[in-house]
Amino acid sequence: MLGLLNRIILTILISIITTLSFADEQHSHGTNTNYLNTDWSFKGIFGTFDRASLQRGYQVYQEVCAGCHSVQHLSYRNLSEKGGPEFSVEEAKAIASQFEVEDGPNSDGEMFMRPARLSDKFAKSFPNVEAATAANGGAYPPDMSVLAKARAGGADYIYSLLLGYDDPPQGFELDDGVYYNKYMAGNKIKMSAPLMEGIVDYSDGTEATVEQMSKDVTTFLVWAAEPHLEAQHRMGFKAILYLIILLTLVYMSKQKVWSRFGSKEEPKEETFDKVEKVVTEYEGEDPKTFK
Ligand code: HEC
Repeated sequence: MLGLLNRIILTILISIITTLSFADEQHSHGTNTNYLNTDWSFKGIFGTFDRASLQRGYQVYQEVCAGCHSVQHLSYRNLSEKGGPEFSVEEAKAIASQFEVEDGPNSDGEMFMRPARLSDKFAKSFPNVEAATAANGGAYPPDMSVLAKARAGGADYIYSLLLGYDDPPQGFELDDGVYYNKYMAGNKIKMSAPLMEGIVDYSDGTEATVEQMSKDVTTFLVWAAEPHLEAQHRMGFKAILYLIILLTLVYMSKQKVWSRFGSKEEPKEETFDKVEKVVTEYEGEDPKTFK
């Protein structure tokens, strides 16, 4: 019995520790899931985003991907929030003001365009899905707000896909506007390789290799899909700490309770016996015979 309880407590502890070290691991299904590996800073329970990478990733998204892919859940103010790229409020305002959004109606009942403010959602690449599909040879460039969460493989999938363009193997048929990609389902994708060496000019001096840009833009997309990831990690850590403390207390009290059964000593006089004795002495008779 003692051993069983000990084992249960040990099992719980081990599972907590395993969760701790493998938190956020993605399990993937599908075609080529042998994804490329890179050292993501946001994985694991202590994971946080690399701010510089998020800022560069925003730049890649805006200068390269935004032409086709929207991120409709993001607002410009998110860019200056804690846990994100953490641009200053001034920088985020300056970014927003470069885009135009529709507002209105004005006093004449007409809609009008004005520069975006912090409270506005990111400007859309296309007015609707049909326009986006028509402009891309019949393939819809998916909105990227939750793409990193929606696809099995998450960050590793997006990163690999961006680096997965290659010449098709011999005999592999490709129509016009379709490209070979090692990680796309069926190996056919209707998006030409979006990144090439030096396509953006990083202001922090980081060299804009295809690997670097893929890593930065993927980091940005993971944040876009989970803007509160860092707060969640802090919360999860606290919960686990709490559980460990609780388990330690349970273990200690269990040891105390069971120690009475394990020991060879005569059990100490219990309170009831003591009271009984005192009463007997006082009354001069055995309380058990009271009517
Ligand atoms: C010229 C338009 C265009 C640009 C620019 C572009 N994409 Fe795409 N993208 C597409 C289209 C169209 C698809 C859908 C392809 C398909 O379904 O075959 C797509 C698909 C994707 C997918 C696969 C989604 C899935 O369904 O699994 C990812 C990931 C992706 N794009 C990321 C990016 C990133 C990151 C950038 C910027 C570095 C980018 N794209 C730039 C048009 C574009």
